[in-house]
Amino acid sequence: MCGIVGVTADPDQVPNVMPMLVQGLKRLEYRGYDSAGFAFIECGSYNLKVFKNRGKIDEVVNQYMVSNYCAVAGIAHTRWATHGEPNQVNAHPHLDCDSEIAVVHNGIIKNFAELREWLVEKGHQFRSDTDTEVVAHLLEHFNREENDFFTAFKKTLQMIEGAYALAIIYRGEPSRIYFARNVSPLLIGLGIGFNMLSSDIPSMLAYTRKFIVLNDGEYGYIEPYKVYIERDGELVEWRRRVTTITWSLEDAEKGGYPHYMLKEIMEQPRVLYETYTGLVSSNEVEKAAELLLGANKIFITGAGTSYHASLVFMYYSSLFAKEPVIPFIASEYTTYSRLADENTALIVVSQSGETIDSLQALRAFKNRGAKIIAISNVIGSSIPRESDRTIYTRAGPEIGVAATKTFLTQVLALTFLALRLGVDKGIITKSEYRELIERLKKAGEAASISIEKSSRIIERLVMKLKESRNMYILGRELGVPLAYEGALKVKEVSYIHAEAYPAGESKHGPIALVEPGFPVVFLGTPPLENLKEKLQGNVMEMKARGASTIIIGVKGYEDIRGADIVINTGEWSELLAPYAITPPLQLLAYRLAVILGRDPDKPRNLAKTVTVE
Ligand code: F6R
Repeated sequence: MCGIVGVTADPDQVPNVMPMLVQGLKRLEYRGYDSAGFAFIECGSYNLKVFKNRGKIDEVVNQYMVSNYCAVAGIAHTRWATHGEPNQVNAHPHLDCDSEIAVVHNGIIKNFAELREWLVEKGHQFRSDTDTEVVAHLLEHFNREENDFFTAFKKTLQMIEGAYALAIIYRGEPSRIYFARNVSPLLIGLGIGFNMLSSDIPSMLAYTRKFIVLNDGEYGYIEPYKVYIERDGELVEWRRRVTTITWSLEDAEKGGYPHYMLKEIMEQPRVLYETYTGLVSSNEVEKAAELLLGANKIFITGAGTSYHASLVFMYYSSLFAKEPVIPFIASEYTTYSRLADENTALIVVSQSGETIDSLQALRAFKNRGAKIIAISNVIGSSIPRESDRTIYTRAGPEIGVAATKTFLTQVLALTFLALRLGVDKGIITKSEYRELIERLKKAGEAASISIEKSSRIIERLVMKLKESRNMYILGRELGVPLAYEGALKVKEVSYIHAEAYPAGESKHGPIALVEPGFPVVFLGTPPLENLKEKLQGNVMEMKARGASTIIIGVKGYEDIRGADIVINTGEWSELLAPYAITPPLQLLAYRLAVILGRDPDKPRNLAKTVTVE
């Protein structure tokens, strides 16, 4: 799980591609940041230069003063280690024996061990422990045999198995960058007098708005004025596949906030509205619901935050459509896919559309004939492409590693789907359906009011919580998935151990940890008539053990006895409560991270898109 970028330009149009490489790579840092590297063809001398090391991109750039160089073409990489510890030799690019060929790679070459053995027998000298280095040596081997680099490249691709997005530069063809895609994402950005490659769109947005999303199995090369794509030896006609993206560059940048995470929390009102408008003006939800209606078993899956959104769907599906739904964590797909057949539907929730666990779950179900619905934020990503139907969230690019705005837009899209299923099944009437959809328009407003009402109190609360090593977040019914999501946010960005449970379950073990001062956050969700009294009981149980008790709730929970702090997010129904309850939890996580000196945008050991199982 890494990010790659490549640029080749006509020096009369772009005298130096180095700033594009550096900036493009920096925008990919969310994909991994334990080491970084550059390989480029130097202006004038046409020498191939390589700089790489352990560390974040800025550290590597500063160490080698990379920005002082001039290049006509280059490739770059930001790494999240899979094979081999993060150090200089394992950092990409990787080179052949003669240092004429440089390779950057995102993914995993599964059969690298056999290939390496074979190459070593042929006399190749390996420098790193990575799977990627075999690609450089295979290219060298076949190039010697064929004396034609493109043929050598095709032969190399025939040898390697696994997931890859590759970008390759060869000193013998200085203005050409070779590429190939299988499973790992790769796009071409088309410019005037230059072309580029990258793992995602935002990293290229400063330079172009025209993109080609490469499909699995495609490979070829770019030159300043040429794009050449092949698949299985056949030329691919790509011109009709060029898409123009309207996201502004500002959308992909911090917009004046100190961190992407805060910016992304704060823009939830807007992106919820945009997702709402997108969903009412397309037929994505109707088409997906048709598919659910034809199924006699419905599963839903995702990883991390996307799994939590899946649990919210289960709740709404039971409420509005009386439809049982089986949720499961994507990496556990084997147990569940056994139950799938052609009458099964699987909803795969993935903001990036690239999470390998979710993709594998999708494939396992598909192999058994199940129909697949994707919920994704990234057009053209793998999961939507392999699904029968897709509902897109319209959250814009999410750069902070912790998912925030994409979670609530997933919840919104899934609520639309549950409501549509409800009306299609005749559980709710058409007029109820219309009214509920109309009420959902306020999702953004709920987020906005809640942010306004909670921001100050959260700032005070973190002063109290910053010394804590642990905390519980408890909820009931709809509050349970929201508590899971809140605990995940706190854990991943502040490194405080936060655990979520159904509040009633806390008595069955977790309460043993509670001692004076132990923080317990309760989520007060609607309907009050069913939940308030029970939650009151749970608060008293914790208070009796000396816990420090905090309520984040909708209006009506203010008078709970035994609460030390109450955050009233406003008066919201079951339909709108997620948009009000979630932002204070996100802000709590964010503020804790900041006060504890953590980088909320790049939590340690994490990467935005997880493309290894
Ligand atoms: C948590 C987080 C991760 C992702 C998970 C799935 O803040 O970001 O738990 O939710 O890796 O990612 P997607 O939704 O891209 O499949």
